[in-house]
Amino acid sequence: MKIYREKDVDSFALAGREVAVIGYGNQGKAQAMNLRDSGVKVVIALREGSERMKTATRDGFRVGKIEDVVGRVHVIAMLIPDEFHMDVWNKYLKGRLREKAMVVFASTVAVHFEGMNFDSNIDVVLVGPMGPGDALRSEYRAGRGLPAKVSVMQDASGRALDMCLAYAGALGCARVGCIETTFKTEAELDLFSEQVVLCGGIPYLALRAFEVLIEKGYPPEQAYIETVQEIRAIADLMFRYGIDGMRRRISTTALYGGKVAGESLIDDEVRDKMLSLLESIRSGRFYKKFKGERPVNRQELEAIPDDMREAREKVSKLFISDVDRLFGR
Ligand SMILES: NC(=O)c1ccc[n+]([C@@H]2O[C@H](COP(=O)([O-])OP(=O)(O)OC[C@H]3O[C@@H](n4cnc5c(N)ncnc54)[C@H](OP(=O)(O)O)[C@@H]3O)[C@@H](O)[C@H]2O)c1
Repeated sequence: MKIYREKDVDSFALAGREVAVIGYGNQGKAQAMNLRDSGVKVVIALREGSERMKTATRDGFRVGKIEDVVGRVHVIAMLIPDEFHMDVWNKYLKGRLREKAMVVFASTVAVHFEGMNFDSNIDVVLVGPMGPGDALRSEYRAGRGLPAKVSVMQDASGRALDMCLAYAGALGCARVGCIETTFKTEAELDLFSEQVVLCGGIPYLALRAFEVLIEKGYPPEQAYIETVQEIRAIADLMFRYGIDGMRRRISTTALYGGKVAGESLIDDEVRDKMLSLLESIRSGRFYKKFKGERPVNRQELEAIPDDMREAREKVSKLFISDVDRLFGR
């Protein structure tokens, strides 16, 4: 695995270049702020009527409409939800960018699964920070960084990798490391890990366990602590020491019980379901369904009924964001 670090970054590659950040949400705001603090000239590009024009202006950025900005800058970061990448590319960017401009994506999902094509005179790259905007910003401010995935899909300038790494460097990601990947691998792995482990597997496992304990009459607060709150301690151990390192640091009862229950819960049936999810992702069926069925906004998406809704609502009421609050300190 190729990992780029600060020594690989030509920090002058972005000198004198202006970056247009399209979107001022989770990633857009954090990336724009990190770029600016790294000395990069930034303009925020939003669709007409965006409420966030005011916020970005209040945060000290120059702001413009997407169509007025993208043709004059050197770098365009596409930091809007994946399902709108194709529309925004076709509507505002296609055929309008400067020669050898660079378009940066933070996710390759739409590019890969919608088979997006780009003007041949531009660079197209991925700089995908491995974490949400909040963490990208707070790590940067603490003098650290989040790692990122990087890839060059199209290199018209002959300098796309240098520019891509300079962009990642300005986000603070090269302080930790930038992992080289491809658009295809990144798109498939991204969806698989979200569905099977991070946003599907872990939360739904916790909710199901919570539901079982409530059903059997345990106090909700304690059920919550055991099934949700304690995930953090184990995740921290896995993050710091790896899975074996975590296992060395837990009690013998937990080690034995975890092995017996883990093997029985995560059995061949689960493995087959994982394979079938992977197949649906790789074939493009998942993305097609997502684009076809996805409601127009996040509120509508969240309102779709699901089996775990009741447990989720109970768990949300019990949400305790940190240990100090939990113990009333
Ligand atoms: N969230 C993460 O943790 C994370 C991590 C790594 C990578 N990524 C990737 O980063 C990219 C941005 O994700 P995000 O979570 O930051 O998105 P987000 O917060 O939902 O983005 C909101 C911004 O997108 C703009 N927008 C939405 N639809 C638009 C449209 N049709 N035309 C023009 N602008 C539109 C919004 O404009 P208005 O202001 O007008 O509403 C707003 O400024 C995605 O590719 C995502 O996969 C996200």
